[in-house]
Amino acid sequence: MPGLFDPFTLKSVTLRNRVGVSPMCQYSCQDGMVDDWHLVHLGARAAGGAGLVIAEATAVEARGRISPDDAGLWKDAQVEPFARIARFLDRQGAVPGIQLAHAGWKASTAAPWKASPSGPAVGPAEGGWQPVGAGDEPFAPGHARPQALDKAGIAQVREAFQAAAARAARAGFRWLEIHAAHGYLLHSFLSPLCNRRQDEYGGTFANRTRMALETVRAVRSVWPDGLPLTVRLSCTDWVEGGWDLDQSVELAGLLKAEGVDLVDCSSGGASARASIPAGPGYQVPFAEALRRRAGIATAAVGMITQAAQADRIIRDGQADLVLLAREMLRDPHWPFRAARELGQAGTPLPRQYARAAG
Ligand SMILES: Cc1cc2nc3c(=O)[nH]c(=O)nc-3n(C[C@H](O)[C@H](O)[C@H](O)COP(=O)(O)O)c2cc1C
Repeated sequence: MPGLFDPFTLKSVTLRNRVGVSPMCQYSCQDGMVDDWHLVHLGARAAGGAGLVIAEATAVEARGRISPDDAGLWKDAQVEPFARIARFLDRQGAVPGIQLAHAGWKASTAAPWKASPSGPAVGPAEGGWQPVGAGDEPFAPGHARPQALDKAGIAQVREAFQAAAARAARAGFRWLEIHAAHGYLLHSFLSPLCNRRQDEYGGTFANRTRMALETVRAVRSVWPDGLPLTVRLSCTDWVEGGWDLDQSVELAGLLKAEGVDLVDCSSGGASARASIPAGPGYQVPFAEALRRRAGIATAAVGMITQAAQADRIIRDGQADLVLLAREMLRDPHWPFRAARELGQAGTPLPRQYARAAG
């Protein structure tokens, strides 16, 4: 079995190691436009040695933003600022990736540092809007009441994902992740806790997975064949009667048949009632189960912070790739430090930093 610092090839793309930066919202855009902050934030982590850097949840349409400060790719003007970042990541030896998202009923909330005591929702005066959802129930108290998507609305969202994927390819991204986790729109169709629809998009497993599968098919038709298409799933809702691991395994098989190359295995987000046993590597068993039972490549994420822990996940065949989020915020050079700790040649330092080697 390979280790953390062995390359990983998926389709025509080879990562120099198996450490990726997990997508992380920065809530720092105006009108969906990424800027210098994103270049420095993502660029530092590419220079820090990660094999893959995935840009934050990027809204495929304006009403699909979590907050008014989210990134977007719903119009052509948003391509070039992302292209500048993708070029920089590439030049540092990291594969540039992006996560495309639609927040659905969890949209139109305040950035964490702007949250008001009256609740997460932002009103029209602060740039908020009415979200759309699988139904018309709010996600939780304090969230805005969504408008339930009808069939034309579902088609519109699917086309927005497709158009944004084409823009992501134009921007030079070489790794695409569709966000179908954390209670956002696609997950809210999957989960029986959130989806109470009576039409062909609700009820049975086939109906609840229809929107995700149709979206993936639309995206695959425009995303270059040679480039990896990946999906982030919440592998369980952590609630009895909710979306669970067995359904995730079954969906992973269907996604694979639609041309998805890897599933990024997260969890939770659909219900405030969830009781989540968070701890080191607590979601790794999901990556292992999907990898073994659905025969698809997986990424493990969630409280992976130690070099030996990450290396063991890869060597034991639990996942093909590890994604780090908060630990990468603490230390953008985590991959170099991990390679040193493991006594691996790992990733070379940028030549500008060569005097720090040894
Ligand atoms: C600041 C921050 C922003 C995040 N934004 C996103 C996001 O845009 N998309 C997503 O799928 N997950 C997002 N997450 C979740 C992370 O990608 C990751 O799955 C989670 O933090 C667990 O990994 P960790 O224990 O290494 O932090 C975010 C997490 C943090 C801390």
